[in-house]
Amino acid sequence: MKKKILIVANWKMNPPTSSEAEKLFAGVKKLDAVICPPFCYLDAKIWSSGAKFTLGAQNCHWEEKGAYTGEISPKMLKSMGVKYVIIGHSERRAHFKETDEMINKKLKAALKFGLIPILCIGEKKDKDAEIVVDKQLKEDLNGIIEKDVKKIVIAYEPVWAIGTGNFCDSQKAKKALRWIQEKTSNKVLYGGSVNSKISTDYTKVGFDGLLVGGASLNAEEFIKIVKNAQH
Ligand code: PGA
Repeated sequence: MKKKILIVANWKMNPPTSSEAEKLFAGVKKLDAVICPPFCYLDAKIWSSGAKFTLGAQNCHWEEKGAYTGEISPKMLKSMGVKYVIIGHSERRAHFKETDEMINKKLKAALKFGLIPILCIGEKKDKDAEIVVDKQLKEDLNGIIEKDVKKIVIAYEPVWAIGTGNFCDSQKAKKALRWIQEKTSNKVLYGGSVNSKISTDYTKVGFDGLLVGGASLNAEEFIKIVKNAQH
């Protein structure tokens, strides 16, 4: 049986208005993909009216409720119909100083409330890849029982390849995939400057799917990526 490829759109802090978000939702409505819009668009009418895609979020807190101004809990996401949540994205690690300890708590909380975490890992500098991936996996998954670890989707995203147009060559990415597979049996996505011209290179070398940032903001381009992957 052909393996199911998972394509995830990370809209980041885009698009800037709700009417643009509605348009983008409408453009990708028929896709079998996971769409992770900003929190404020999770309740958009469009996805509740016959959309085929699955909803994801870009982050969550580790507590279910409380005095954490500006935060969103995994329980809230679950109650909104969200199925996936990106955790430990490099932009959160860099700009919001998220540590592996915090990421570990977020993973545990997301799993507790029945969300599927998409754990992002990846090195800042090419040559550090194996060491960084190893350390992040160890610390982020610390204390999570095997049965739950299996539910986590891992996204290998070399930081230097994110949003730069400087994607990681698929043969190089394949090495990181092997290191990850030596340690876990999880689904592994590739992310970092994916576009429709190179998207199948990664699934061909064994990745289970893609985490797409910039290219997911263009419905036509994202449709191509999803269709390429699924044919
Ligand atoms: P990019 O982003 O596709 O724009 O490089 C990927 C990501 O940050 O998940």
